[in-house]
Amino acid sequence: MRIDVVSIFPDYLEGLTLSLIGKAIDQGLLDLGVHDLRDFAFDRHRTVDDSPYGGGAGMVMKAEPWALALEHVLGRGPAPAEADSAADSQDRLGEGTGEAPRPILIVPSPAGEVFDQRIAEDLAHAQHLVFACGRYEGIDQRVLDWAGESFDVRPMSIGDYVLNGGEVASMVMIEAVSRLIPGVIGNPESLTEESHEDGLLEYPIFTKPATWRGHEVPEILLSGNHAAIARWRRDRRLERTAEVRPDLLAELSDLDAADRAVLD
Ligand code: ADE
Repeated sequence: MRIDVVSIFPDYLEGLTLSLIGKAIDQGLLDLGVHDLRDFAFDRHRTVDDSPYGGGAGMVMKAEPWALALEHVLGRGPAPAEADSAADSQDRLGEGTGEAPRPILIVPSPAGEVFDQRIAEDLAHAQHLVFACGRYEGIDQRVLDWAGESFDVRPMSIGDYVLNGGEVASMVMIEAVSRLIPGVIGNPESLTEESHEDGLLEYPIFTKPATWRGHEVPEILLSGNHAAIARWRRDRRLERTAEVRPDLLAELSDLDAADRAVLD
């Protein structure tokens, strides 16, 4: 998968080069390009914002630097003012084959569709994701309208609160998506019993020692009875979901009699 991120604070994205995502990049499972929007602002001050039409507080990100940056990640348009690591972008979309799926442009915004595990799974199948990190009051709406000619444009919120910009939200989404790319997580089984994978929250987990500061590990986990352990874990998942996220439980249609007995 190819992921491009455009931001006026490219250093924010440095964190993605650490840990499992960094390893996936090193292994060639993920190809990550981070681009400075200011490299596509060609006036003396490399201006990327201006006051809003119609008045109001704050500043709006100008359309043209965004258009040039997005054309660049598509392998079209002029090179940025200062060369970045994306010089190889020309062949990214397999242009000329006529078969490449449209890249997905994710625009982090508190006004977007709420990102969840289902969307992460969906995006993990994409060939090319581009994250447009807005700052200030956001990006001129015409950029999103124009980008719809080349991208599937998806304004996306990571929750009902307001951040200072799209960088942290992009990192959240990139981490959630890229860990689902086959090979990124060493043991794929660890993906199957996670919270949100099947609509239930995960069960509580324990490791050695069996007694710690007077707190015991539940005895059943020491029993070696795998069926009983599986039942215990499912019961805890059901209880936890009912307590913390009853909204998730209400959406489940495949609860059996044993499940219902725990919840009653
Ligand atoms: N930008 C500011 N707030 C945001 C949020 N909640 N989700 C995504 N992007 C944002």
